Amino acid sequence: MRPFRSAAGLLAMAVLALSACNRETPPTEAAATPAASADRDEHSYAQPDKVVTEDLALDIALDFDARTIAGTATYTLQWKDQSATQLVLDTRALTISKVEGEAAGAWQPLQFALAEADATLGSKLTIETPERNARVRVTYASSPDASGLQWLTPEMTEGKQLPFMFSQSQQIHARSWVPLQDTPAIRYTYSARVTTRPDVMVLMSADNDPAAQRTGEYSFSMPQRIPSYLMAIAAGDLVFKEISGRAGVWAEPAMVDRAVAEFADTEKMIEVTEQLYGPYRWERYDLLILPPSFPYGGMENPRLSFITPTVIVGDKSLVSLIAHELAHSWSGNLVTFASAKHGWLNEGFTSYVENRIVESVYGKEMSDMEFVIARNALRENIGAMPESTQALAIKPGTELDADDALSAVAYDKGAWFLQFLEQRFGRENFDAFLRGYFDHFAFQSITTEQFLAYAKEHLFDKYPDTVTDAEIQEWVYAPGLPSYAPQVMSRNFGIVDSARLAWLGSAQLPPRQITDAWSTQEWLHFLEGLPQTLTSEQLTQLDEAYAFTGTDNGEIAMRWYPLAVRSGYTQANEALAEFTARVGRRKLIMPIYTALVQTEPGLALAKQIFETARPGYHPITTGSVEALINDARPAPAPAQAPAEDTAAPEDAAPPATAN
Ligand code: BES
Ligand code: ZN
Repeated sequence: MRPFRSAAGLLAMAVLALSACNRETPPTEAAATPAASADRDEHSYAQPDKVVTEDLALDIALDFDARTIAGTATYTLQWKDQSATQLVLDTRALTISKVEGEAAGAWQPLQFALAEADATLGSKLTIETPERNARVRVTYASSPDASGLQWLTPEMTEGKQLPFMFSQSQQIHARSWVPLQDTPAIRYTYSARVTTRPDVMVLMSADNDPAAQRTGEYSFSMPQRIPSYLMAIAAGDLVFKEISGRAGVWAEPAMVDRAVAEFADTEKMIEVTEQLYGPYRWERYDLLILPPSFPYGGMENPRLSFITPTVIVGDKSLVSLIAHELAHSWSGNLVTFASAKHGWLNEGFTSYVENRIVESVYGKEMSDMEFVIARNALRENIGAMPESTQALAIKPGTELDADDALSAVAYDKGAWFLQFLEQRFGRENFDAFLRGYFDHFAFQSITTEQFLAYAKEHLFDKYPDTVTDAEIQEWVYAPGLPSYAPQVMSRNFGIVDSARLAWLGSAQLPPRQITDAWSTQEWLHFLEGLPQTLTSEQLTQLDEAYAFTGTDNGEIAMRWYPLAVRSGYTQANEALAEFTARVGRRKLIMPIYTALVQTEPGLALAKQIFETARPGYHPITTGSVEALINDARPAPAPAQAPAEDTAAPEDAAPPATAN
């Protein structure tokens, strides 16, 4: 249930490590200033010790024909180093046409140099600022294949009438549509004036007006300081419908009612989170439903979470995604990791809070099932990860692709650690501690060490002899999972385990009265515990009873189709190809591609699907699929299910987890 870290993710990482030698010049600052490098964000060229952005004002035009964002970005700067003479910004595939600095009320041209592109970081933009101007203005245009934007033609939308575009800035893609100091260590306020064709609505991670009219000219302001990865923009045939006074849905007209029904509990979720951790501080909380090509499940853009349509399945069974993105309004957006290497401060805290919200709104059995699913996946996968990435806090210098930096470790080991603390200190004390933590660090970006120092004072030392220093060190800095990690059991899953075992032994399906009451989570657990491969007869029996092939539920699809592929059950191919080409959410389709590329015929099908789907995929998804296909080493024949395969559930395929 967590971002992309699976067989496919590991493979992608291996590919990255192998291709590291192809990279162009790595950033030199880290090596040049070892003293300052410990907490330096290795994914940015910015120099926050010299100068930081206080405010960013955008004046931009969205051009759907040229597929560009072009205009000016004006930075209000705070100079930290009075001998500094340069402003260094991050860019990726941007055209920079002019740079000016404000001096004595007038704009004067400034010298600048755009370095050759680094494959990971993009191009460093160095601006000469001998006078340390209080304001600098850059005139720029994005490239039609900006890594952080997707431009969709009308045919690729639900309504087929108007084009659509959206951004995905996390982790380091904001720099592909705005030149900026692209590190979460720096927070700033922003405003924007956006012009475009008058028939599309434009939204940003800012003060969207539910009653806004389409005029082709929009203005936004975000008065709360945010890190760059929370910059977001979307435009298309978007209409608004309210859930409550402060929450609502933006979606294409054909989707909006279904989305409002699915996410009707959003206001309740906000209220329970406020009760636990203090007021929601961002005024409105709206959801933007994106086209199925959105490469993630959700993205916590402030005031406007971006949401995949693949969780709208009609029974609210996948709405923990909303709990997750909402939780980021406290863990992540309010208190932010200083760099992706402290990713667990965002995602681990958020997964923990998500689970608390689910428990409050949907009950303990549901939150337990979700914890068990996530932890089984983590347990299956963690051993295969490089040791250096198995720790919660990742050491400086560890090779990490920014798009894959937040692994199941950050999410699920992080949440597990917090649950461990909750159990040791007691829920009441721990809730009070977390509430104080969010308050203390509100609107700041922090490191793991800052969290630990705060926790020492307000938790560990306050209730001495409750945890040992060795335990904390092991959770945060050691690979693997502590032997004393709290166990979570699910009563419902016990029933699922028995049903599965009985069916594997006797071909007797569980009684309808039982399975009719199963939620998505129980079906996921049923599928995850199956052997690596089944016989065609077994798969046909399941399909006839439960119609897995062709399912609308992506969580089921991402588990069923790989099993079908591994088992040589080609009856599923057509539906599998349709699903994989239509959906661009990496977590759902990478396990399917990963299963396909293991054999020659599978690889051929993967290539065929990719070719059809490619024009509709997001650049992030395209990159992942392409790397997987290019690196494939297929076996010549399909892996036929040997009839004598009686693998026990323990030997089952690791449930793939992906973004
Ligand atoms: N912030 C993440 C998405 C993200 C992570 C984007 C890393 C880029 C790099 C978001 O909050 C998230 O975790 N989304 C999950 C859903 C969740 C329920 C685990 C996803 O997209 O699957
Ligand atoms: Zn998240």
